[in-house]
Amino acid sequence: MNTRMADPEDAENIARLVNAAFRPERFFIDADRTSPEKVRALLQKGKFLLAEEVGALAGCVYVETRGERGYFGLLAVDPALQRSGLGSRLVAAAEKYCRAADCHFMDLTIVNLRRDLPAFYHRLGYMESGTLPFPADQHPSQPCHLVIMSKPLT
Ligand SMILES: CC(C)(COP(=O)(O)OP(=O)(O)OC[C@H]1O[C@@H](n2cnc3c(N)ncnc32)[C@H](O)[C@@H]1OP(=O)(O)O)[C@@H](O)C(=O)NCCC(=O)NCCS
Repeated sequence: MNTRMADPEDAENIARLVNAAFRPERFFIDADRTSPEKVRALLQKGKFLLAEEVGALAGCVYVETRGERGYFGLLAVDPALQRSGLGSRLVAAAEKYCRAADCHFMDLTIVNLRRDLPAFYHRLGYMESGTLPFPADQHPSQPCHLVIMSKPLT
């Protein structure tokens, strides 16, 4: 498995992968998670780290530095390749990137309705550190909010 930084030309493939991986969220938000346009906009603010297997996109994570804090999101692994350690390796790569940029903490958000995710992030050293309102431009089918999870980068 090779990892590399995405170029704007990768936006279509990233959006396809993210939308396939995030299909389990359709029970509360019946829309694509992202689009090539939104990926290109994120590439103006941060980076996408890509994991590729023989030229095909297997996983990705968006990472951004915000002063002494790093943030990652849109962590996505091809559904056929999940549960083989790739998601954890992408989190480690995002942490390495932020450590190299002198960040001391890493943050991410999850939707409180995703009962499966806290255990995954606890195992990687993250703890709940706050909440945020769900983005106003999205329209979930039931009340929900974001949970912030954080970890010191030592
Ligand atoms: C979350 C995600 C990135 C994890 O990637 P992964 O490569 O499957 O994760 P890893 O193989 O590194 O870790 C697997 C462990 O995480 C947990 N886990 C991962 N996905 C899980 C799921 N959907 N349900 C329950 N546990 C899950 C399990 O404990 C699993 O260990 P096990 O197989 O021994 O039980 C991947 O499932 C994914 O793309 N999900 C859809 C998108 C998403 O929810 N992204 C995160 C949003 S914040």
